[in-house]
Amino acid sequence: MNLPILNTLASLVQDQKVAVPSDPTAEGTYWFPVQASTLAEKSDWTFYYIYWVSAFFTALIVAAMVFMAIRYRYRKGVWEGEASPGHSWTLEITWSIIPFLLTIVMWWSGFKSYMYSDTVPPDAYTIQVTAQQWSWEFEYPNGAKTYKELHLPVDTDVTFVMKSKDVIHGFWIPAFRVKKDVVPGRYTKTWAHPTMEGQYTLFCTEYCGTNHSQMMVQVTVEDQDSFDKWVAAQADPSAGLTDVEYGKQIWSQQCIACHSNDGSVVIGPSWKGTWGTEREFEDGSSAIMDENYILNSIVDPNSQLVKGYPPAMPPYKDLSQDQVDGLIAYIKSLGN
Ligand code: CUA
Repeated sequence: MNLPILNTLASLVQDQKVAVPSDPTAEGTYWFPVQASTLAEKSDWTFYYIYWVSAFFTALIVAAMVFMAIRYRYRKGVWEGEASPGHSWTLEITWSIIPFLLTIVMWWSGFKSYMYSDTVPPDAYTIQVTAQQWSWEFEYPNGAKTYKELHLPVDTDVTFVMKSKDVIHGFWIPAFRVKKDVVPGRYTKTWAHPTMEGQYTLFCTEYCGTNHSQMMVQVTVEDQDSFDKWVAAQADPSAGLTDVEYGKQIWSQQCIACHSNDGSVVIGPSWKGTWGTEREFEDGSSAIMDENYILNSIVDPNSQLVKGYPPAMPPYKDLSQDQVDGLIAYIKSLGN
């Protein structure tokens, strides 16, 4: 069992070293996951300081309240209270100065760590982040793109330049204490300096629609060599894959939130058994599910909206011809 007080004391020792855990979440405290970035200890210090100041004064005030309730309780026959003492400057100044100093520390520590988290280092390794309903896309400097996973080199400043294709999403990696909204129509930036190899989770933390809770990504922090190898391999995602395998990979990264491959309905129609069938649309027209219909559904999804489904899909105009071919092959492989 975790004893919060022991963890708190440990977190107050600034230069603590934490061993690489097999399950990072197991190494966290009652309140927080493991501290896996340089921001984490700063941010946690502020939290624990406020926490213990609050705990101390809660105990003090409740104790005084209970004491006075007993000491000055109603007694039969005693109607007049003792006269209160007059004004006391000593008391006034004491209970003004002490809280003032305590809250100044809160402000200073919060302000310092906020400025630290909001000041992006100029020479950092930059990853472009694109959020949309309901997936993340990470683009690395060599052009590699990943969706369900994010890799980062350990002990390196990494900047995230973020944009949204539709609504507000929230970029949140609890183990790093990094959290920043991703807003349509503008870029937002945040950064992290991961300090510990391991696997963590990225969440979306703005409610962005039905599959908001599916916007989770595994974050892997690894040594520079492994990272370089990994990011080089991602630059050519179709290498060694057949069209069907490549299509399935794209589906599992970008389409799975809305389209199933087994007949179940998520948001949009399932792809199973649709190839070559006649599709009926909201406007009364229909078309056969073939290459051109699939291409059109990807780039202009609402022009042929299948009857009974919401116009929920954004246009995916930046898929490459290879990717579209892969998706067509995959849908074909799911039968008719
Ligand atoms: Cu994206 Cu919630």
